[in-house]
Order: sequence, then C-alpha cells, then structure tokens
Amino acid sequence: VTFLNRLLKRWFGSKARPANNRNPANAYVNGNRRTAPARPKSAAGPVAIESERLPRFRIPTVGRSTERSDIAKARLKLRDAFTPAQPVTERRLFAGRLRVLANLIEIIEERLAHVVVFGERGIGKTSLMHILADLAQESRYRVVRGTCGSGSRFDEIFRTLLRDIPVMFLKSVSPTDQESEAGASLADHLPEGRFNAQELSELLGQITGTRILIILDEYDRLESEEFRQSVAELIKNLSDLAAPVQLIIAGVSANLHELIGYIPSIRRNVIGVPMPKLTKDEVRSLIQIGENASGIRFDKNLTDLVHALSNGSPYMVRLICHHASLIALDEGRLSISQRDIEKSLERMVEEAHARLAFRTAQRADALRMDDDGRLLSVVSRAASTPDGWFGQTELQAYAKNDAERAAATALIEAELTREGLIDQDTSGPEARYRFSDEGMANYLWVMVARQQFRAQRMAKSKQA
Ligand SMILES: Nc1ncnc2c1ncn2[C@@H]1O[C@H](COP(=O)(O)OP(=O)(O)O)[C@@H](O)[C@H]1O
Ligand SMILES: [Mg+2]
Repeated sequence: VTFLNRLLKRWFGSKARPANNRNPANAYVNGNRRTAPARPKSAAGPVAIESERLPRFRIPTVGRSTERSDIAKARLKLRDAFTPAQPVTERRLFAGRLRVLANLIEIIEERLAHVVVFGERGIGKTSLMHILADLAQESRYRVVRGTCGSGSRFDEIFRTLLRDIPVMFLKSVSPTDQESEAGASLADHLPEGRFNAQELSELLGQITGTRILIILDEYDRLESEEFRQSVAELIKNLSDLAAPVQLIIAGVSANLHELIGYIPSIRRNVIGVPMPKLTKDEVRSLIQIGENASGIRFDKNLTDLVHALSNGSPYMVRLICHHASLIALDEGRLSISQRDIEKSLERMVEEAHARLAFRTAQRADALRMDDDGRLLSVVSRAASTPDGWFGQTELQAYAKNDAERAAATALIEAELTREGLIDQDTSGPEARYRFSDEGMANYLWVMVARQQFRAQRMAKSKQA
C-alpha cells in the first residue's frame, strides 16, 4: 500500500484537480486481444502450421460453455462487465451519475427547457442518454433517439424519428380513427421530400396528450451548418408554441455554444449540462458493478489507482479493468492485483500507440522522458480538456509549482512545437495549445504512467 501511495503521490501530487479533462483517442477498440504464442525457432524450410498453438476464440457464441469452470464463466461475463467499446444501456450496469441525472430531470420536468449535454469522448454521454430515456419512458414520456453522422440531413433524421411517434397524439386525430388504428405515425403527416424547421414545428405544435423527448446524440459529428441552424430554429419555434416536445442534444464539446452555435434568441430556452468526470466513489461503484457481473475481484486498495489512471473517464476505467481482468483470467486467477493493472498499462500503451498517425507515433517515440516523464505527464493531463485546448490555467492545475509550470510551458514551446506535435492559438492574450493528433494526450498519459511504474519497480528491487 505504501508503494502504491508513493506512486500516486508522485504522479498526481496532492493538489485537487479541476473537473475538465479529455480522454481517450477517437476510436474505441476492443482490447480483447490475444497474441499468438511465438513460433519456435526452426531450421530453414517451411514451417508446418501448428494448429495446436493458434490462439482460439474462447467464448461460445451459442449455447452454454462446455468448459464450466469459474474462469470460463467469468470470461463470458466479462464482456458485459467492462467492455469499453459499448455504451451502457442497462441500469444494472450503470454506475453513479445520480446528480447529473437529477439535474437533467429537473430541467426537463420543471423548467421545460431543451438540454445540451456536452463533454469529452468516453465521458459517458451516450450511456447517460440511454438511462435517461429509460427513466423518462417509465414516467410515460415518449422518447425517440437518433444518432447524427457527418452527412446527416435535417429532414432525414427527423423523418426517421417521427416514425416512432404514433399519429394518435395529434390534436386532429383520435385514437379510434382509421389512420390511428392502422398504425400510422407522425412521419406520415410530414410533407413529402425535404421539409424545413418551420414545417416540422407546425406539426409538432399539434401534439397533445403526451410529452415527447427527442434525443440527438453525437451532435458534434454533424458537418452541415444548415442542420444546426434548422435545429436552433426548431427549438425557438417549439418554445414559442409551448409544444410538449423537448430536445436533448449530446456531443463532444467544451461548451454549449460550440455545439449549437451562438444564437441569442434561443439562449433562454436551452440549458447546457457539462458531464463531470467520475468521482472516486463512482469509480469504486463502476468497479463493483463489474465485479458483481463477472465474479472477478479487485483488491480493495486499487480504486485509488484506477481512479488516478483513468483521469475520471468511465471509458478508461473500463479499459483498465477489462485488460487487467483478461490478464488475470489468462493466468487462471479471479482476483486482480496491482500487478495486473501494471500489465494492462502495457497493452494500453500499445493500443494508444497504434491509434496515432504514423509520423506522430515516430516523433512521440523520440521524446525524452526526463524525470520519468514528470513534465510530459503534466502536459498530457493539462491537455485532457473536452476540446483538447489548454493553456496556463490547465498547466497550473497539474503542475506542482510555478517552476514546474514554466518548465512544462518551455517543453511545449520548444521541443513539442518543433516536432510538430502541438498547434498553437496565439490570437488571445495568452497562447493556447493543443496536440495536433487527437490521440496524443492519451498516449503520453499511459506511456508516462507505465514508465513510472517501471521506475518504481526498479527502485524497489534495488532496495530489496
Ligand atoms: N455511468 C456509467 N457506468 C458504467 N459504465 C459507463 C458509464 N458511463 C460510461 N460508461 C462506459 O464508458 C464508456 C464510454 O461511454 P459512452 O457513453 O460511450 O461515452 P461518450 O458517449 O461520452 O463517448 C463505455 O464503455 C461505457 O460502457
Ligand atoms: Mg457517445
């Protein structure tokens, strides 16, 4: 435990950390990786395929496992428990977030406002939307949900969403009408072909006898400015008509305006809700949920370490726990120790490295790690803002003192800029920085963590 404490203290100092941080790289890869065992050295000539040694799929896709051991069962359940590639859709697997949920419910129910939920990738927006939808449906809201893509068109997305709203909720239609009985939807009342926000809000303004939540996820992926403007107009019209329809928009962003654009006329009608990073208690409960789901046990004192390593990101918590669990299972164990977390860092470094652009990866490899990468760790933590931009405020928050902040700034201004790893924005009173590769901050972060683990191990073995 003292080893652990020293390690934590060394990395993270003792300062309280601000709530902003960005995390993992763009792609979610399933870390469920198995390497083929090394081929034995052989004399020249063709090597026979050693079918015995090929890695195997281990989880039966149908039926029950023939292998009934606890290990096999745990492996099967691990996917539910910690898979980092998918959002949580079930309440039993959803950890924490009670305050955000309470806040959202209050905004929707009491203030009848539209909501924008924003925050970094992997912070849990999509999962939260699933649970929110579930809770709302329980209270008789009708919830429809859409995911935006770069090429989404306003009319196409909304036509699809309206297919899930029965026509009987229109004032002009009664539940016994033929149309209603035939299962028609609101989409059948839209103009054919393209339509605009005005036409859509006229239709939605006729809704009665229910409340409708329209969830639009991954809103940041939209490239069409026209789409965003249409949504702003829709929000304005729905508010003016006091229609029982509310929009919940979720996306990667540092603030509300970046996501929906600065349109003064809708400011009153939209409330921004930032996704906070996980507290230590929430990390603990996420781990516990995974333990219960899989039968795997984590040493009690590992919560602090996982919390620190994850930077408060549920994606990272799950990734760390997922790797650590696989490592233990491969060795036939159901209990996770610090060593498994250390080993999982090796895999995470490899994965993060693979996600970098080739040239970035080369330059990253060439970076020097003075003092076990202490300065790089300050920079990578500072860069973990929702949109990746950071400056002196963020550096200050993670540096031990002013001297360290100055040294970190010098590292950014000199080496990192020279290597082409950093973009600078000098239009404001103070320079702002961003890693040009989105995966870089995360890569540095796990790499430094691994380095420090290694250094600690070395020091410890020397002592012994
Ligand atoms: N409250 C939570 N409890 C448990 N796991 C969570 C929670 N929130 C997010 N996760 C996990 O974190 C990862 C990222 O979540 P996701 O909802 O996809 O984030 P975002 O939409 O912000 O990118 C997923 O693996 C998801 O299962
Ligand atoms: Mg998402």
